[in-house]
Amino acid sequence: MSQGLSKTRAEVKDLQRLRQLFLEAPAHDGLADYWADETLLSLYDTTFARRIGWKWDAVLSELAARCWKIPSNIRRWVDWGCGSGIAGEVLISRRHDELPEAVVFSDRSLKARLFASKKASEISPQAIKITHESPELLQCGEADLLLVSHVLNELKTEQLNSLLEQAKNAGCLLWVEPGTPHCSKKLSEIRDELLNTFDAVAPCPHQLACPLRGAEGDWCHFFAAPPPHVFQDAFWANFSKEFNIDLRSLPVSFLVMQKKGLQPCNPSGNDRIIARPRFYKGFAKMLVCGAGGKAQLLQLQQRNHKAEFKMWEKDCFFAEITSARDSD
Ligand SMILES: C[S@@+](CC[C@H](N)C(=O)[O-])C[C@H]1O[C@@H](n2cnc3c(N)ncnc32)[C@H](O)[C@@H]1O
Repeated sequence: MSQGLSKTRAEVKDLQRLRQLFLEAPAHDGLADYWADETLLSLYDTTFARRIGWKWDAVLSELAARCWKIPSNIRRWVDWGCGSGIAGEVLISRRHDELPEAVVFSDRSLKARLFASKKASEISPQAIKITHESPELLQCGEADLLLVSHVLNELKTEQLNSLLEQAKNAGCLLWVEPGTPHCSKKLSEIRDELLNTFDAVAPCPHQLACPLRGAEGDWCHFFAAPPPHVFQDAFWANFSKEFNIDLRSLPVSFLVMQKKGLQPCNPSGNDRIIARPRFYKGFAKMLVCGAGGKAQLLQLQQRNHKAEFKMWEKDCFFAEITSARDSD
């Protein structure tokens, strides 16, 4: 990671412009193609995309910890709106024993498709066929796993609708977005729209309508932990300063769905903590989503949940309440 790190002033400026575009995207109805050249994709890939990769790492680690497997009918992974291809890259690097026959990178930008597919070819085992395809020509089916990452802010309604048609045809869906209210609510709507034909694998502990979809002031999101080395790395310290980004904070909204009947979902039945608890002296308050499809505020006493408090203070991504509820 460290070689790409000393950016020139011009490169930092390019990245700042790109970030500004991303921050302002929700106020616009779609964005014009901004991938000017391979250099910009490469700059993005070594900076913002790495942080997105840490979110994918967190999601995939949790899925693995919960023994979720990619359904066995899946033959192809499709990274839609691939940009520099971080979603495909992380999945290829982490799921060695579940690799597909083919991975396809799709983006309206040909430069992005070429960049992502070339990079993936360099890290993938030879047996995997790596291709790229324009979104207009792409046809998803039941043997496809669709990967979607950080695109919601940029899509016009009709573009989102055509992505949803692809999602409906796919066998499985892994979707990761920033943990903002806007993206989270959109993802909840997408989840509810797909529920007729898909099971919600994560983050939901139930198959009912999302209780947070219309909630005022609450939204379904979590905080991923960056890899610890980041906090000792001069590049990331510099990055944090240049872009005024708090490295510790990686808010993420995500959605994992699989076509009904493909394989069991195995929900634990436990309440799941949304975002993270707020700690007070001797107790904590937290919003949880439960197996009954309801979200509620809980107050837990530290003395009754000592081990969990210790764990949550360090890392609380996608945590469940596994000990008995307080009676007080
Ligand atoms: C913020 S980037 C995210 C890239 C990558 N998925 C990631 O997580 O790093 C959004 C990507 O969506 C692509 N995009 C935007 N509108 C699109 C559309 N209508 N069809 C396909 N791709 C689109 C952009 O070209 C860009 O590569």
